[in-house]
Amino acid sequence: MKITEKILKLLRHSESYISGETLAQELKISRTSIWKHINELRELGYKVDAVSNQGYCLKSSPDRLYDWELSEVLNTKDFAREYHYYDNLDSTMDTASRLAMDGCSHGTVVLAETQGKGRGRLQREWVSTKYKGLYFSLVLRPELSLNEISKLTLLAGLAVLKTVRKLTSVDCLLKWPNDILVNGKKLCGILTELNAEPDRVNFVVVGIGININNSDKQLLDIATSIYKDSGKKTNRSMFAAELLFTFEQLYLQFLDNGFGLIKEEWSRYCCLWGERVKINRLKDSFEGTAHSLDDDGTLLVRTDHGTIERVLTGDVQRLRAIS
Ligand code: BTN
Repeated sequence: MKITEKILKLLRHSESYISGETLAQELKISRTSIWKHINELRELGYKVDAVSNQGYCLKSSPDRLYDWELSEVLNTKDFAREYHYYDNLDSTMDTASRLAMDGCSHGTVVLAETQGKGRGRLQREWVSTKYKGLYFSLVLRPELSLNEISKLTLLAGLAVLKTVRKLTSVDCLLKWPNDILVNGKKLCGILTELNAEPDRVNFVVVGIGININNSDKQLLDIATSIYKDSGKKTNRSMFAAELLFTFEQLYLQFLDNGFGLIKEEWSRYCCLWGERVKINRLKDSFEGTAHSLDDDGTLLVRTDHGTIERVLTGDVQRLRAIS
């Protein structure tokens, strides 16, 4: 732990002012050095009050996802234990992928406060308003076969949904394969990218973008945020820690016990069942009624001829939304 982080911890756990003398003794450095580190904290956005003869007192912390802020509340085994924080990146997907190629550990998280070229599925743009949302990529090294990988997107979606429902009053639902919606508007998107050989998965990068404290003006028409829907600001570090914990639990459950229970829970929160949908695939499209999720994570759609079509990849367009 760096000296600045140690000072922050001491300030945080002190009920009143703590003298420069006490800090200096505790950390075995000079008072001048303490003063320099206090100024570093101020530059990072922490408001530290200094009163002569009394010492220092932490008045407020900035809303930033610094590694020491996340690790303070993180409760995972592997997820985010290797953590790379950036103020600005083109896309966390590219940085995470590069780190994975260089051998970073399973569970590594790359998070950026904003992205210049945030991307979604089907080459869509992802808008990353600075300091308002959560934009991160998680590197996984799963012992899974190629055809199991798409289930990780469903797992991630369920983890986001459970976190939103646990920490906020927002009533969100899932849309196959990678969206979390509130009243039909997008709250979160998930992008899964794979690095594999014909017979083995090298690594998977799961990218998650969630609109958290974005105001109406900072959102596209098709999007919403937790703040917009609930009127309440959410602590992003707490949210990230809870999400990473929930995702890791689901991931371990999936590896140990398979997809069965996850499929049931995912299906319970899917907004599509019984809805008229249009499935747009790379080479064709068709209309039908969304029916259910198959055991392997594919979407089953009843066509107008009464047959059941299996949808492995593609975009689901809701023609008459029920919820
Ligand atoms: C989608 O809705 O199609 C997926 C959106 C995924 C956005 C996240 S934000 C963090 C990560 N970095 C990216 O460039 N994209 C994902």
